[in-house]
Amino acid sequence: MNSRRDFLTQMSGSALAFAAASAIPGWALPSQESISLAGEDGLIVRSARFFDLETPVEFLNTWLTPVPHFFVRNHMHEPSELSADPWRLTVGGEVEKPLTFTLGDLGKLQTHSVVNTLECAGNGRSLQRPQVPGIQWGKGAVSTARFTGPRLRDVLQRAGVKASGKHVMFRGLDEVPGKVPPFIRSIPIEKALDSDSLIATHMNSAPLTRHHGFPARALVPGWIGAASCKWLTEIKVLDSEFVGNFMSPGYRLPNQPVKPGDSVKPEDTRPVTGLSVKSVISGPSDGSNLKPGTVTAHGAAWAGEADIVKVEISIDDGATWRAATLGHEKSKYAWRLWSYSWNPKRGDYTIKSRATDSQGRVQPAEAAWNPSGYLYNAIDEVKIHVA
Ligand code: MTE
Repeated sequence: MNSRRDFLTQMSGSALAFAAASAIPGWALPSQESISLAGEDGLIVRSARFFDLETPVEFLNTWLTPVPHFFVRNHMHEPSELSADPWRLTVGGEVEKPLTFTLGDLGKLQTHSVVNTLECAGNGRSLQRPQVPGIQWGKGAVSTARFTGPRLRDVLQRAGVKASGKHVMFRGLDEVPGKVPPFIRSIPIEKALDSDSLIATHMNSAPLTRHHGFPARALVPGWIGAASCKWLTEIKVLDSEFVGNFMSPGYRLPNQPVKPGDSVKPEDTRPVTGLSVKSVISGPSDGSNLKPGTVTAHGAAWAGEADIVKVEISIDDGATWRAATLGHEKSKYAWRLWSYSWNPKRGDYTIKSRATDSQGRVQPAEAAWNPSGYLYNAIDEVKIHVA
């Protein structure tokens, strides 16, 4: 099956441009910058090899992101065969009774919904200075959806976690290219047993699409997207953190602040877990030319496991700050939309947004640099011209 993947990986840039002009059933490439493949629409292609698709920042203006606008991050090839019938989820390791679930079995468990802002740890990496290697995400490796499915806790409790069970490992069905290590990670048992950690089968009230992990994915709310394993097929309870490339050296932050450009010893690092406090401006777009009259700046702000308590806006490049109005829609782990209106005179303006959360964290003027460019969260800004 699948050919979309093979087709993309075999194509050069000019062939991609040709594909844009020709009729390709189910998907098309309107330009080399944006992609429209079954289920995803108007996203920016950061890598076509495994589908790393960014949500344009202008789309971050609805509380729930429509699934076709929800960013996609794949480390590997998506599973080429995906159908509900043969799919199985095994639960084993440090448990009293190893279990196997069909999708029908999962469907019989009580479900729970969590509105979660999912952000890739590398979101904003392209803005780090000095630059760091990795997918050069702009501001849009983040989106929000209502995830629904049984609680991970209920599944683990059926299997009976032994006292020795300290971490929970997830394995997906992705197809590993060549000798690359598989995408396997683990989370601590406390987070796995949290009543909001899910085995999600639905996103925005519809079954998960293939790009987002059909038929089931882990949903570890408030944590970096990498914790939420897609195409979940194995859950294993471990007596210690999983040892593998995507736990170390991948997805780790320095324990202490480092000077930009410095290297960090592996023993001086820890796994990245919860998201930082952050806001982005989704409109007006950077470089907009606007007519005099009321201008409304708007965007989203989120803080992982903490709540957003305020978003402040500056229209004079950070000299003075005013409170933005927060949107009514709110839920633990979900971003708050915000807006701020004023009547500018003719001229050039730098609009900045700065979020503060319930843990007292304030979005900083400069993000803490780290060698992998994780959790970039500097105050956002756009420049506009009013004439
Ligand atoms: N799960 C599997 N099996 N394989 C992956 O490559 N990518 C992770 C996570 N789960 C990944 C995965 C990362 S890094 C992110 S940010 C999120 O999925 C992105 O989820 P999305 O593609 O649904 O937006």
